[in-house]
Amino acid sequence: MTDVSGTGSQPNDQRKVLTNRQGHPVYDNQNQRTVGPRGPATLENYQFLEKISHFDRERIPERVVHARGTTSYGFFEAYGKLGDEPISRFTRAKLFQEAGRRTDVALRFSTVIGGRDSAETARDPRGFAIKFYTEDGNWDLVGNNLAVFFIRDAIKFPDVIHSLKPDPVTFRQDPNRIFDFMSQTPECLHMIVNLFSPRGIPADYRHMQGFGVNTYKWVNRQGETFLVKYHWMPKQGVRSMTEADAAAVQAHDLGHATKDLHDAIERGDYPEWELLVQLMSDGEHPELDFDPLDDTKVWPENEFPARPVGRLVLDRNVENQFAENEQSAFGTGVLVDGLDFSDDKMLVGRTFSYSDTQRYRVGPNYLQLPVNQARNAAIRTNQRDGQMTYFVDTAGEDPHINYEPSLRDGLREAEYPHTDELGPEISGRLTRKRIPRTNDYVQPGQRYLLMEQWERDDLVLNLVTALKQCDRRIQERMVWHFLLAEDELGLRVGEGLGITPDDVASLEPLKSQDLTEEDRSRLAKLG
Ligand code: HEM
Repeated sequence: MTDVSGTGSQPNDQRKVLTNRQGHPVYDNQNQRTVGPRGPATLENYQFLEKISHFDRERIPERVVHARGTTSYGFFEAYGKLGDEPISRFTRAKLFQEAGRRTDVALRFSTVIGGRDSAETARDPRGFAIKFYTEDGNWDLVGNNLAVFFIRDAIKFPDVIHSLKPDPVTFRQDPNRIFDFMSQTPECLHMIVNLFSPRGIPADYRHMQGFGVNTYKWVNRQGETFLVKYHWMPKQGVRSMTEADAAAVQAHDLGHATKDLHDAIERGDYPEWELLVQLMSDGEHPELDFDPLDDTKVWPENEFPARPVGRLVLDRNVENQFAENEQSAFGTGVLVDGLDFSDDKMLVGRTFSYSDTQRYRVGPNYLQLPVNQARNAAIRTNQRDGQMTYFVDTAGEDPHINYEPSLRDGLREAEYPHTDELGPEISGRLTRKRIPRTNDYVQPGQRYLLMEQWERDDLVLNLVTALKQCDRRIQERMVWHFLLAEDELGLRVGEGLGITPDDVASLEPLKSQDLTEEDRSRLAKLG
C-alpha cells in the first residue's frame, strides 16, 4: 500500500489522535495535498486551510497600554473590621463584611509603555489590576505600583501616553519628547519624582506595592458615602533595581518578573499583599491644600491613617497565557454594591476607556470568556448575539422573551434594597476649568525629602541622564520646576546639567498653572 500518512505514528502509540476543529482525524500533518509529490497544491485542502488561516489570526490587538503582563489567581480574605470598628459602618460591600470570608481573584501585573514582548526591566509604572469574583458580580480594582499618576484629567491621557511611547518616526523612546510634554505639564512632577527614583524599576512583581491611585467611594447601608483610597502592601517587602541592576538582568532575560512570579507560585511560595484603605468624609475638604479627587496627590497618612481590611494571596498560575492573560479585561467601571465612583476627572474617563477598548481589542462578547465572566454571580441579561457569542444567558422559562418588561415571562428588575445615597449635593455651571488647589510642587518636594540619601542620589542621576538628551529650553524648564518643588533637588539636577537658578530666574509661569503664594515666594528667591 502507498504510504500516505506523513511521518506516521510510532508503533504502539497510545496517545490521542490529532483532529481538526471539525473533529476530522488528521492523517498527515506534515504534507499538504498536492498533484504529485512536487505540487501544485489544491485549494480544497480543508485541513491545511483551517490550520494556516487560524494561525493567521492568532494575535489580537495588544493592549494600547499595559501590553506586557501576566495573570495569576488566588483569593482575597476579609478582616471584617476597620481598626476597632465593624467595616459595615463604612461600606456594605459583602466581600469585606465577615472576618475570614474569601473571594476568588485574578490579578494581572504589567508594565505600561512597552509592547507585548518588551523588557520587564523598564523604568515604567507597573500595573496592578485585580478582578474580585464576588457573589454580587465582579469588582475590578485597576491600579499601579506608584501612588500617584501623571495627570489629573482624562482628556490628557492620549497625550501623556504618546509622549512616553516610541517616537513615531524613529520608533525610539525619547526623553526629549517625554520631558517636552512633562515640562509643559507641571502636574506630572509628583509622578516624575517617583518614577525616576528607584521605585521606578521594581525588582519584580512580588516585591512591589499596589495603589488604586484614583479616589473611589464607599457606601454603607444607610446610604452614607465616604471617599476611599486603596493600597496594597507586599508581605514579601518592597525591592527595587537601579539602572545598572536592570541592565544586568535585561542582558539575559526580558521576562524576569513573569518568571519570578510563575516560579514562586509553582514551588508553593505564594505571594501575599495586605489591603489598606484611607478614608475621608465625602466632600471637598477646603481645609486641605489639595483636592481629595486629585490623583496627583497622596493623602497624608498622619491625618488619614491607612488601615488594613484584608489580605490577598496568589496561589495558582494560568494554564494558558493567551486565554487567561491576553484576553483578560479589567475596568474601573466594574464595581459592586457598597463601592462607588467619585467625581475624580480621571476616573470618569478611565471608566469609559476600558470597556470601549475591550469591545474593540477582544470583541463585543469579551465578558463571555471564562477569565472575565462574573463566575460567582448569576448572570441573566437580554443581551444577544454579536461576534463570538458563546452562550445565551438563561432568561425566564420562555426562550422567546428576550426583552423586558413583559407580561408573559422573561426577566424582571431587582428590587433596590437600600435607601438612596446621602452624598453631597453638587451644582455648578457647565465649564472647562482646572480644579482649584492644583498645588503641584508641595508633595513632590516632600517626597524628595522623605527619600533616603541613596534614593535621592539615584533620582538625581536618573533625571540628569535623561535630561541630558533634551533640548536646553526643556532642561531649563524642568530645573525651574524642580527648584519650585525643593531647592536641593533643583540645585542638584541643575548642577548635573550646568544650569543655575540664575539661568532660569526669568522664566514666566506657564499659562496652564496656578501658583500658590509659597510658589511665588520661591520664584522670587531664584534670581
Ligand atoms: C490599561 C486607559 C489611567 C492602570 C489601560 C487600557 C486603557 C487604559 C485603554 C487598556 C485596557 C485593555 O486593553 O484591556 C486609561 C485612561 C486613563 C488611565 C484613559 C486615564 C484617564 C490609569 C491609571 C492607572 C491605570 C491612573 C492606575 C491607577 C491601568 C492598568 C491597566 C490599564 C493596571 C492594565 C489592565 C490589565 O492588566 O489588563 N488603561 N488608563 N490606568 N490601566 Fe489605564
